Amino acid sequence: MFKRSRKLTLIEKSRLSLKLKPVFIAQLMMLDSLEKPAYSYRQGVFQKELEPNEGVSTNFISKYAQEISSEIFLHKIDYKRLNEKLNEEIIKITRSLSIGDPRSKGVKHTNLLSMQMANLYKDPFNDELLTNQFQSAKNFFNLLYQNKDIHKILYTNLVKQNHHYTVAQPLLSSILLVSFLQHTGMFSEKEIQNYFLTSYFKDIGMSLIPREKFELAHLNDYDKKLFSEHAANSRKLLNGRIPLNKTQLNIIENHHFLNYKIQALISDSFVIDQDKMLSGIESTLLSSIDIIVAVSSKRPYREPMSVFKALELLKKVISPEYPTEFKNLVVFLRHFFK
Ligand SMILES: [Fe+2]
Repeated sequence: MFKRSRKLTLIEKSRLSLKLKPVFIAQLMMLDSLEKPAYSYRQGVFQKELEPNEGVSTNFISKYAQEISSEIFLHKIDYKRLNEKLNEEIIKITRSLSIGDPRSKGVKHTNLLSMQMANLYKDPFNDELLTNQFQSAKNFFNLLYQNKDIHKILYTNLVKQNHHYTVAQPLLSSILLVSFLQHTGMFSEKEIQNYFLTSYFKDIGMSLIPREKFELAHLNDYDKKLFSEHAANSRKLLNGRIPLNKTQLNIIENHHFLNYKIQALISDSFVIDQDKMLSGIESTLLSSIDIIVAVSSKRPYREPMSVFKALELLKKVISPEYPTEFKNLVVFLRHFFK
C-alpha cells in the first residue's frame, strides 16, 4: 500500500478514469476484498493504492483516511458490488423491522441510507441506484413512523456521523419533518410519507454542482446561479424516474421559496415574483424545517446558529399567514431540542 506504481500512459489514464468511481473511504468497509485495484487521485494523477489480493482491512481504511484522502476510486465492477452490498444490508434491516431494538436498527439504517445517498450524489443518472435509494427511503419512513420515540436519537446521532452536509441535510430535515407532522395530528400516514419522500429527494440537483463549491464561504455570481438552480435540477433529475406526483415535484422545484422571501425582507434589491411562489401549509412546513436544520447545522465555512434564532428569521415570513402552525412549530422544536 501507498508505494509508487508505474506511470500510466495518457491513453491508459483516460481509459482508467472512465472505469473508476469515487466513494468515501469508510464505505470500503462494506467489502471484504476487491476484484480490481483501487486508486487515489493525487495532483491530477491516479495512483494504485490497493490490490485485489491485499483484502480490505480497517487498518488500510484508517491509514488511507489519515494520510491520503476521504475518497478512494473503485473500478466500476467493485463500485457495483459495493452498491449491491449496501442495498442488501438495507433490505436485511427492513425485513427484520419488527425484531430487535428499533434504535440501533434506526442508527444503522440512517448510516447505510446516507452512504447510498452519497453514491447517488456522485452518480445521479444511475437508475438502479436511484430506485434502490427510493425504496430504502420508503422503508426508513416506516421505521420512523412506527417509532416516534427514536426520532430525536436518530437526528442527534446523524449530526455526529460526519457525513458530508449535502448528504446529511436532506435526511435530518426529513426526520424532523416527519416528527413534526406526526406531532400535529393533522396528516394521514400516506400524506406524511409523501412529504418525507419529497423532502428527502429535494436536493438531488446539488449533485450537478462541483464538489469543491460546497466548501466556499463566498460564492461569485456564477456559483450563486449554480446553487439557485439546484431545486429546478432536482425536479428534472427525478421526473419520471421514481414515483413522485406533480404536487411533490412542484414542492421540490420551489422548496427554497421561503429563503427568497427572507432575502427579500432583508434586502430591498432582492425582488421576488409572488405569483411564482408556492404557498400551502405543507410546502411552508417542509421549507421551514429545511431552513431550521440548515442554519442550525455547522458548515465548513460558518458556525451554526441556534434553532431559536432561526425561528426568529422565519417568524416574519410564516406567522402572518399561518400563526397557529408557527406556534405549534415553536412548541414542538422547544421540546425536540431541549
Ligand atoms: Fe435545497
